[in-house]
Amino acid sequence: MTNITIFGAGNIGSAVAGIAVKAGADVQVIDRNPDKAAAAAEGVAGAKFGEATITGDIVVLALPFPAYDEVITAYADQLAGRTVVDVANPIDFTTFDLALPEGAKSAAEWLAGKLPQSTVVKGFNTTFAATLATGVNDGAPTVVQLASDDEDARKAVAAVIEAAGLKTVNAGPLKRAQYLEGYGALQIILGVTEQTPWTGGFKVVR
Ligand SMILES: NC(=O)c1ccc[n+]([C@@H]2O[C@H](COP(=O)([O-])OP(=O)(O)OC[C@H]3O[C@@H](n4cnc5c(N)ncnc54)[C@H](OP(=O)(O)O)[C@@H]3O)[C@@H](O)[C@H]2O)c1
Repeated sequence: MTNITIFGAGNIGSAVAGIAVKAGADVQVIDRNPDKAAAAAEGVAGAKFGEATITGDIVVLALPFPAYDEVITAYADQLAGRTVVDVANPIDFTTFDLALPEGAKSAAEWLAGKLPQSTVVKGFNTTFAATLATGVNDGAPTVVQLASDDEDARKAVAAVIEAAGLKTVNAGPLKRAQYLEGYGALQIILGVTEQTPWTGGFKVVR
């Protein structure tokens, strides 16, 4: 059985938890509020941020990008040897520009630099939470775009997503996160300006 840990029990954390449960994975959700973590999806084990020991081979960071620092501080040692999925759209919501640390090209590449003993996969940032939760975007299966320098890690994440009935595409190496994060930002801008619905957004057809 695949073991998955999800940091964050918000919109994306809950949606990814639902996907992982549907895929038959053993799912742990870690949040500052353990009750909220336990309620993320039916059948998950909830745990408290900072106290919990990671159980998943795949770890999804479903947190705002600025919170990644806290995860790295508290959990870098435990994340070594695991696949870490970066879902972030690192946006300054006052300007809608990308908000990355000095010199960073993408959140995913920055994270990989901070966690050299982990394998980073970029994913879930180009799909709104609602289309992950329902598995459907405009009448077709939701397509999750993934990027990683490690084929095995990307395939392992894709297998979970596809086992839940969604689809995936391979965007290529981790540096393609630069494009995925721009794509994610534009999708948010169109949502915020009410030109596209939060239940839809960009649709990838397979
Ligand atoms: N929503 C979407 O449609 C969407 C789509 C693609 C990508 N994303 C990305 O997904 C990530 C999460 O977004 P979301 O919409 O799920 O946000 P959200 O609903 O606000 O949930 C955020 C989660 O992060 C936790 N958190 C916040 N700050 C933290 C900290 N300093 N330390 C530990 N935990 C912290 C919150 O915990 P508490 O319960 O303790 O507050 C909450 O569980 C973001 O990076 C976003 O860019 C979102």
